Amino acid sequence: MNRDAAGQFLARLDEALESGTLVRLVLAGPRTAVVARQVQVRPVILKSGPCYSVVRHEPRRDLTQNLPAAEVARLCREELGRDFTSGHLHTPLASYQLECRDTVRSRISKSAGVPAVDSAALQHDRVRPRKVDAGATWLQRLGVTLADGRVAKGMESKFRQIHRFLELLDPLLADAESRFSQEPGRVLVDMGCGKGYLTFAAAEHLRRRADGPWQVRGIEQRPELVSVCRAAALATGMSGLEFIEGSIASAEVRRADVLVALHACDTATDEALARGVQLGAALILVAPCCHQEIRPQLVAPPVLERTWRHGIFRERQAEFVTDALRAELLEWAGYHTQVFEFISPEHTGKNLMISAVRCRDAGDASAAVAARALAHAYGIRRQRLAERLGVDLVGA
Ligand SMILES: C[S@@+](CC[C@H](N)C(=O)[O-])C[C@H]1O[C@@H](n2cnc3c(N)ncnc32)[C@H](O)[C@@H]1O
Repeated sequence: MNRDAAGQFLARLDEALESGTLVRLVLAGPRTAVVARQVQVRPVILKSGPCYSVVRHEPRRDLTQNLPAAEVARLCREELGRDFTSGHLHTPLASYQLECRDTVRSRISKSAGVPAVDSAALQHDRVRPRKVDAGATWLQRLGVTLADGRVAKGMESKFRQIHRFLELLDPLLADAESRFSQEPGRVLVDMGCGKGYLTFAAAEHLRRRADGPWQVRGIEQRPELVSVCRAAALATGMSGLEFIEGSIASAEVRRADVLVALHACDTATDEALARGVQLGAALILVAPCCHQEIRPQLVAPPVLERTWRHGIFRERQAEFVTDALRAELLEWAGYHTQVFEFISPEHTGKNLMISAVRCRDAGDASAAVAARALAHAYGIRRQRLAERLGVDLVGA
């Protein structure tokens, strides 16, 4: 890196930190896909005194830390140039932009300053900007919040889950953007929607996006839940939202750009995945629930045999093998697949999410080989998603 340009930028940063005039610092242009997309730094005042809020926008989450000035200076020295190709420093006197094209070419430019932050705005937001409005009538109607907007007792984890789901949705939609159908409008289908918490949340959230109009459909086999959902949709006047009574495998659904299924039981998750693939959904998002199908078939690979005297290891392997097979089968079906924890395990053990973005034609041979090897290692002969997709897990 051109040390003069970088040195000047870091010197301006030190001045801003020392004088308390930093309004905003952004590190952007990640050198690799694994680092955060961006790091944003802004001053805040906590009970313990002034410091800096540092938000790392990672691919699947935002990580926030509150750091003293010296730490901000250190992280910028470490990461700018190495992990990020550009730095943007904003103060009331001037703004500076550092561009590091490679290790030799870099340049700094200066532009007008930005307004100073007023001290009221520095008080650290106690409430993060929320994706879901706690005062929304549908949340009250479904019993998640009370009339005054507080979360109802016992519904805290549901509220958290709804919020997290919406946080994940936007970046995943961006990943799937180029794969959406060219037909007008977009359709999200929520399989096994239960009381419709996520269906309502999705409908409300998608209504605000510019890429609509979105139709949102909830599929549920229990008629009493469908009635609850329909009544709530009617009472709250939500448009573009409907609930269909039927099974995931056979309910009449002709289009799904996005298919979600959160905590649909056992093989219902496989049925949902299979329908997503068959409908050519650009994005499939499932949170598996119980893993019954595989458990009775499991045979311990020799190296694990002894460890399985502890039942919990066998349980966890059943979950692992089921979801690992699902991930391979989705890859086989032409989907770029990611598996991650979508909510902290301290809130629920059922916190695994599988996201799949359609990116190529079906038939990835290496994924089929991996799925068969996994099935063979654990003695699995049948798995619902494999059956639905027509992948033979036993054959060579
Ligand atoms: C644990 S609840 C989850 C509800 C909702 N997805 C959520 O996360 O709030 C699972 C729901 O899936 C429904 N379900 C399970 N298997 C189904 C199937 N094969 N077809 C339709 N609905 C199904 C159940 O009736 C239940 O309402």
